[in-house]
Amino acid sequence: MNSAEIFTLGDKYIAPTYNRFPLALVKGEGVKVWDADGQEYLDCLAGIAVCNLGHCHPRVSAAISEQASRLMHVSNLYHIEPQARLAELLCEMSFADKVFFCNSGAEANEAAIKLARRYGDAVLGKGRTRIITMQHSFHGRTMATLTATGQEKVKTGYQPLLEGFDYVPFDDIEAVTQAITEKTCAVLVEPVQGEGGVILPAPDYLDRLRRLCDEREILLILDEVQTGIGRTGKFFAYQHSHITPDILTSAKALGNGFPIGAMLASNRVIRHFGFGSHATTFGGNPLATAAALATLETLRDEKIVEQVTEKGAIVIAGLEKLKAEFPELTGNIRGQGLMIGMDLAIPVGDIVKACLERYLLVGSAGNNTLRLTPPLVIGKVEIETMLKILSEVFSDARKK
Ligand SMILES: Cc1ncc(COP(=O)(O)O)c(C=O)c1O
Repeated sequence: MNSAEIFTLGDKYIAPTYNRFPLALVKGEGVKVWDADGQEYLDCLAGIAVCNLGHCHPRVSAAISEQASRLMHVSNLYHIEPQARLAELLCEMSFADKVFFCNSGAEANEAAIKLARRYGDAVLGKGRTRIITMQHSFHGRTMATLTATGQEKVKTGYQPLLEGFDYVPFDDIEAVTQAITEKTCAVLVEPVQGEGGVILPAPDYLDRLRRLCDEREILLILDEVQTGIGRTGKFFAYQHSHITPDILTSAKALGNGFPIGAMLASNRVIRHFGFGSHATTFGGNPLATAAALATLETLRDEKIVEQVTEKGAIVIAGLEKLKAEFPELTGNIRGQGLMIGMDLAIPVGDIVKACLERYLLVGSAGNNTLRLTPPLVIGKVEIETMLKILSEVFSDARKK
């Protein structure tokens, strides 16, 4: 099928929940993708922080092919080798003692919310199940996770929402302190707010939050669905700080594009998830966990995360130059590793579209922020190309 045929078919049969760009991608390799008409694009969005190893990394594709021809799915009623090996690796690379696998970020956060409530009820006291979350946060689109999310736009039309969430401003320890009551069991927070506009808190925010949670004997849950798997220059973003969380959620880049989510926790907490307390048919099946295992082994063996901070600094230095050149179009630049945002003074949608017309894929977040989340394997030449295209796009925008 050509692009036009795919657009027509999709518009006719796919639920209208996405306002899609006129683009149908059919092939990818590294930082490049191709549309159905053979046009090549530079992908600096990576499926929104998903394809951290680039598209179709040979090791991940080989692991999927091999596993797909051997055993794709069995029930979690049985032991699953790649699942156990992946859990071991995740625990070795983090604070965790045990892992619960699922299929997406929202499901990982659902599991975290359920586990925190169970822990609160069992350990802190009957009915102690309220969770504090942050304004402008994003935790997913299921009923519990959209309720946890601190953005009204994802809740519209879905009332009644769940009970049990309290919202405070991000990066405000005093506000969390005030919000904790005798009903609170946990604080849920993204180390860097992604969908909220690539918002970084003060460097000591997580340390202070951890101290507060310890003092008040409540759990600290980190949503690392977007910040995890090397995106910010550490395997998990909390590793930039001095703390460990009680629960951490992961998804997005965990399978480099193969859908998989995970909830990691310490033994002290996860022991409250006993037999029958939570389950999923597909979560952690042999195919998904083989893909994720190959992803993590490749990240480790090729020392990819170690290069992220330097690459991020090159991108930010380039954006700073653009900001100096186009001060009337641009605003603040924020980022950690290769999770980067630049506020714009013109509609971000126009810039994203203009980039697409020049065969560069970028994204948007928050109110009006240009979002760059390229594959972590992006090279210096590709970074230069991205910056050059952005410069051309800003030049054109200035003329309008
Ligand atoms: C921080 C964060 N949490 C949760 C989610 C939801 O993940 P999923 O779309 O896989 O359900 C996202 C997705 O963007 C996210 O960025």
